[in-house]
Amino acid sequence: MTKDVLERGRERVQHLCAPCHSRVGDGQWLHPSRGFARKPPSFHDQRLQKAPLGYFYDVMSNGFGVMPDYASQISPQDRWKIVAYIRALQLSQNATKADIPAGQTVPSTPPRFRGQPGSGRNAFQRLIPKTLRTPLRNLRNTNERRHHSTSLI
Ligand code: HEC
Repeated sequence: MTKDVLERGRERVQHLCAPCHSRVGDGQWLHPSRGFARKPPSFHDQRLQKAPLGYFYDVMSNGFGVMPDYASQISPQDRWKIVAYIRALQLSQNATKADIPAGQTVPSTPPRFRGQPGSGRNAFQRLIPKTLRTPLRNLRNTNERRHHSTSLI
C-alpha cells in the first residue's frame, strides 16, 4: 500500500462514487433522491465495515441492486485502488485514541503566534525600516489634511 495508491483511489472515488455515495461515503447525496428506488447505504454501516475487500470490487464489477456496474468504466487496477481508499475511509471514521501515533494529539495542538494572532501586523512592522515608516505616516496626514480642506470649500 503506497500513498500513490490511496491518492488515486481518493480521486476516483470523489469522481465516480461520491456523486451518489458522498465524499465521506455516508450515502447522503442528492443523486439517489432524484429517481433511485433506494438510497446507497453508508460505507460506515457495520455490515459494510466488516465486508471483505473483494466485496467492494465485486459490487463495482457486477453492480448491486439498482446500482449499475462500472466494469467498463473503471479498470481492475483502479477498482482495487478505490477499494483501498474506501477501507481507509472506513477506518478513519472509526478511529479510536489507540490509533493515534505516540506523541500526537487529536485535535492537534493549534499553532502559537507571538503577539496578536491573525493580523500579521507586528511581523510587518518589524520588517519595515523606521525611515520608511515616517514618510508613510506623513502621507496619511497629508491626505487627511487635503480631505479636510476640500470639504471646507
Ligand atoms: C449513480 C449512483 C451511484 C454511483 C455513481 C455509485 N453507486 Fe454504489 N450504490 C448506489 C445505490 C443506489 C446503491 C444501493 C443499491 C441497492 O440497494 O439496490 C449502491 C450500493 C453500493 C454498495 C453497497 C452494496 C451493499 O451491500 O449494500 C457499495 C459497496 C457501493 N455502492 C460501492 C460503490 C462504489 C465503490 C462506487 C464508485 C465506483 C459506486 N458505488 C458508485 C448508487 C451509486
